[in-house]
Amino acid sequence: MEKLIIEGAKPLKGEVTISGSKNAALPIMAATLLTDEPCILQNIPCLRDTWTMIELLKSLGKTVVIDGNKIIITSEGKLNHIADYKLVSTMRGSFCVLGPLLAKLKKAQVSLPGGCVIGIRPVDLHLKGLKSLGAKIEVENGYVVAKARHFKGAHIYLGGVFGSSVLATANVLMAATLAKGETIIEAAACEPEVEDLANMLTAMGAKIKGIGSPRLTITGVKKLRGLTYKIIPDRIEAGTYILMAAATKSSITLKGACYSHLMALVDKLDQVGIKVYPEGSLIKMKCKKVLKPVSITTYPYPGFPTDLQAQFMALMAIVEGVSVITDKVYPDRFIHIAELNRMGANISREGFNAIVQGVKVLHGAPVMASDLRASAALVIAGLAAKGQTEIHRLYHLDRGYENLDKKLTALGAKVYRERE
Ligand code: EPU
Repeated sequence: MEKLIIEGAKPLKGEVTISGSKNAALPIMAATLLTDEPCILQNIPCLRDTWTMIELLKSLGKTVVIDGNKIIITSEGKLNHIADYKLVSTMRGSFCVLGPLLAKLKKAQVSLPGGCVIGIRPVDLHLKGLKSLGAKIEVENGYVVAKARHFKGAHIYLGGVFGSSVLATANVLMAATLAKGETIIEAAACEPEVEDLANMLTAMGAKIKGIGSPRLTITGVKKLRGLTYKIIPDRIEAGTYILMAAATKSSITLKGACYSHLMALVDKLDQVGIKVYPEGSLIKMKCKKVLKPVSITTYPYPGFPTDLQAQFMALMAIVEGVSVITDKVYPDRFIHIAELNRMGANISREGFNAIVQGVKVLHGAPVMASDLRASAALVIAGLAAKGQTEIHRLYHLDRGYENLDKKLTALGAKVYRERE
């Protein structure tokens, strides 16, 4: 195991290139199960999670060749319909092989992904949607065992207690591309990652209307074809670098990111006193000397993303005054509070809210990464803090940030890895 050491309180400067989106890449990789033809995917970030998905695709019978950030996925023999517990349990994104396997093979057995530190994360909406298309589903020994003689189009409402679901929309959308007749998904997730998947499926020959909206209309086709497709940039990685720069009172330039995917963050940062603006294909920023505390509530897209909540909290921890942070997508996603407080932050939990009382400075400390975005918040705090921060359990960060230490070093940060 490795840990990350950060010598804090150093400004960042220069340009950082944003990688392909992890959360777009995972379902898009799963969607290649829908065709026997070769698929070439570009801009795949080199991460633990994309490695896990490659391993899963191989275990299901695909051949995957990696060429830098490009992967070539081909089929040789028949696909296997069982998605192994070991691979699915390590990463929730793997559960989106269920829809494509069922659509292609008429049967699938996929391990339940289980809960995790950010909440219980059920899969009822995935199963509801697939059942509406005609699947018979049982849960046996921790596996979802599903059969579908033929999928038939249906009118499906996919809204849940916490709004729309990204991966449930992806699963049902993928399955519906090969169903007979028309499927309408109401309360579909509108995240850019779902839009990217729908664009990819369209390039494979799927017929989808309403892409990017909460109402997707899919007319089933008999077969999908192979393709070459480039994944969108990672908006959460982009937002994290912007927040790293903000917390160190720096201004950096982002290359390869998509400005319009970042509007909820841009709007909140504007109120904080940080201007984030596009200049040609780049994104630039300017920070005021004195920043203001601003409250946020996370919502499904286009609301403020839950995947940037922890990182925004790390910034608010050092902006003097009070801000309130509420997560309406994962109401319990607050495990990072204790570790931020270990560094001198003053954050308390009151019911569904985190109350942040901004302090002048944070102090470096040994801290424990608990999940991907909580770890990113600790990196932000470590970059801003006086002294040295050690982040243990670095593997969480490696699930979602490509070359994090290299990118930060190039921006002038003093960051290095060490064996535990
Ligand atoms: N939910 C249900 N039932 C379901 C599915 C979801 O009640 O069947 C609830 C969840 O418990 C949550 C809410 O609905 O309260 C939204 O969850 P969603 O299904 O949208 O999450 P997901 O699709 O499992 C993806 C990302 C997450 C990101 C969420 C929300 C991937 C691989 N994961 O998860 O990313 O937080 O959408 O935007 O795409 C991350 O990258 O760090 C990460 C956790």
